[in-house]
Amino acid sequence: MSAAYTDQAHAIHARDVDFDFDTVPMHYIPGEVMATHVINVMHLVLPEGERAMAQALTEALPLIEDERLREKVRGFIGQETMHAGSHEKARRQLERLGLDVAPMVDSVGWLIDRVLGDHGLTGRAKREWLCERLALFAGMEHYTAVIGEWLLTNDKLEAKGMHPAMLDLIRWHGAEEVEHRSVVYDAYMYLDGGYGRKARQALIASGGLLVLFVISGGYLFQCDPSPNKGRWWWPLQLAGASVRGLVPSATTFLTEIPRYLRPGFHPSQLGPMDNALRYLAQSPAARAANA
Ligand SMILES: [Fe+2]
Ligand SMILES: [Fe+2]
Repeated sequence: MSAAYTDQAHAIHARDVDFDFDTVPMHYIPGEVMATHVINVMHLVLPEGERAMAQALTEALPLIEDERLREKVRGFIGQETMHAGSHEKARRQLERLGLDVAPMVDSVGWLIDRVLGDHGLTGRAKREWLCERLALFAGMEHYTAVIGEWLLTNDKLEAKGMHPAMLDLIRWHGAEEVEHRSVVYDAYMYLDGGYGRKARQALIASGGLLVLFVISGGYLFQCDPSPNKGRWWWPLQLAGASVRGLVPSATTFLTEIPRYLRPGFHPSQLGPMDNALRYLAQSPAARAANA
């Protein structure tokens, strides 16, 4: 059942960050309304998911005896909690600008609680449900790591004039996703490691995230009270933004599945962390907090 934990010696810790969103406009990627709302999904939907993840890992902690893995799990919980708080700060700025997202945020919070909460289970059922959630979150963390690396190497958003505080927020977040990419996977492998469960939940994570981003992005576009939202219907704007490299391609959610499900796969095989660690050393928000 339990695999020995021997991977990666990198220590994970939550960084203090301080973002200033006061000058962020509604369309902070100028002229790119739909791409802005796809990024907005991160501020509105991800924080609830990150809290659910932090809660599942907190439940897993007493079951983990390996000190090094425990240290990483604690670092992971701190990082995800910090992500959720920072995105919520961005959300408040969008609300000040007139984007009424409270109903959506409440529904997402309710749904995530209903589906991914602990359901008050005990004993064996509690542990099985915890392993299911860890398998699901391990699958999701694969995508956040892949998209995190995409954000770090993408130069299109900056070239388009994306507001620097928002760009820093998503790059800092992306970099920490790359940094902690192995933690949930390792916790799952330590506590269960079953291939069938991992594969099933990876497919749910993949389809779920894709649907979530498209539906939530479209909903936000429709909530946007701005008089000028571009000539094109939002699905066409989304396709255009994807072709122009302003949002990750939807095909990522298909093409990553074979890699993740290959026997012997481990998230450390996703490539070097250099881009992430370099960014974390120079992120303006991280430096402002440490100043
Ligand atoms: Fe995160
Ligand atoms: Fe994460």
